[in-house]
This record gives sequence, structure tokens and C-alpha cells, in this order.
Amino acid sequence: MRQEDIWDAETAAQYDTPGVGAFAPEVLDPMVDRLAALAGGGRALEFAIGTGRVAVPLAERGVPVAGIELSQPMIDVLRAKVDEATIPVVNGDMATARVPGEFSLVFLVFNTISNLLNQSEQVECFRNAARHLTAGGRFVVELGVPALRSLPPGQPARVRHAEPGYLAMETYDLVRQRMISHHLRFGEGREARLFRTPHRYVWPAELDLMAQIAGFELESRHADWTGGEFTDESAAHVSVYRLP
Ligand SMILES: C[S@@+](CC[C@H](N)C(=O)[O-])C[C@H]1O[C@@H](n2cnc3c(N)ncnc32)[C@H](O)[C@@H]1O
Repeated sequence: MRQEDIWDAETAAQYDTPGVGAFAPEVLDPMVDRLAALAGGGRALEFAIGTGRVAVPLAERGVPVAGIELSQPMIDVLRAKVDEATIPVVNGDMATARVPGEFSLVFLVFNTISNLLNQSEQVECFRNAARHLTAGGRFVVELGVPALRSLPPGQPARVRHAEPGYLAMETYDLVRQRMISHHLRFGEGREARLFRTPHRYVWPAELDLMAQIAGFELESRHADWTGGEFTDESAAHVSVYRLP
């Protein structure tokens, strides 16, 4: 499964759910507040900007935002909302693509660093963030904590969410440190729609080492965008890395 094949026109057309799910104000408002504060009056760059779920409200808040995105169909959906002058986007790989200019903030949210399926690509992604930042600039990563503790012994899979008409499941390859996230939607009949994304899951400590390799220091780690304490029960983290 290549990322370009996953984030195709069909997926892009169905990605936005205005006002609900990942697009709900209670999800987006704290993110945008925190990112605007972390940008500190400078320019922000979103790696894997997608359809602009976060970038569009951040730009509306007055923060100049640019993006890198691999999928042209996702960029096309973004372009229906804002033009190139408002949010410039480079169509490329966030581990290597270069956006003109310098930034005070680079951010990569919604578990997307794990869409890079090799450790070396993930390290390159950190290096690419550093290349775009001014001295003292920040790289913010939002990522889930691998859920290996909830795997029954001998069963490398779990149901993450179940409701009528929708199942979210994860299957794990513990040797290769990979996870496939499966989303199954179905009605009363035999038809079902399956959407799957492959990930290389990363522990917070490994992420910190990647950051160190790229010249960053960990400035803060919280369980969410409102500054909740990160504990051994946290399912995700928002980590802020800073250049000297
Ligand atoms: C879960 S979506 C997140 C989009 C957006 N950041 C958001 O929060 O809604 C993942 C996005 O990452 C993009 N993507 C995956 N691998 C990428 C890569 N190597 N470089 C740039 N974009 C990538 C996909 O095309 C997709 O748009």
C-alpha cells in the first residue's frame, strides 16, 4: 500500500466532516490555540497538510501557514477552500521536500509521522523539519502511544472502536514495528467499505532520540492540546521539540 494510492480522489472527497469528528470545534479549537501560541508571531509549516483541517483555521487566526503534502487529490480539496497565495503547498514528501523561506513552527499531527514506514524516513522527517526552522524554532508532533499493552497474549490485533455500522481494528507486526489501521463501514446488507492505513508505530522515547539526532531538544510533552498531564495511561501525546 503506497500513501499515494491510499489518499486518492475518493478518500480526499470523503475526508472532511465539517463540524464533527476530527473537524469538531472541541477538537480543532484547542489545537489551533496552542499552535498559534507556539508559532509566536512567526510563520508555520504543516507537514502532510491534507485538506487543511488544521491549517485553514490556523490561517484564519492570522498565522501565515504553508504546507507539504504528498497527495494531489488532498491538495485539490484544500484548494476549494483557500488559494495558493493564502496557504502555499508543495506537492512532495515531508521527509525531503523543501518549502521556500524560514519558519518558527513546523507541525505534524494526526499520527502522520507514523505514515512514514521506515525509521530512516522518520529521522529524515525530523531533519527536514530542522532545515525549515529558524534558531529556537519548534517542531510539534501529535502521535498515539502504541497500544501493545491492550493486545491479548498471542493475538496481534485489537478492536479499537465498535459501534453499529462501524468497526475500527488494528493489526500488529511486532517484529517490523508496523501496525495497519482498518476502518470498516457497513449497513444492513452484505456490502462493506474498507479503508486501511499502514503505520510504523513509534514509542515516545524513540521519537525523542530521532529529535536528538536532528538537533532538537524536547521542550514539553502533554497528553493533549490543552496541556493535560502525560501519564502511563495516556493514549497519545503532543510533543514539542525545539532547536537551540
Ligand atoms: C491523516 S491525514 C492528515 C491530514 C492533516 N494533517 C489533518 O490533520 O487533517 C494524513 C495525510 O498525510 C499525507 N501523507 C502521507 N505520507 C506523506 C508524506 N510522506 N509526505 C507528505 N504527506 C504525506 C497523506 O496524503 C494525507 O493527506
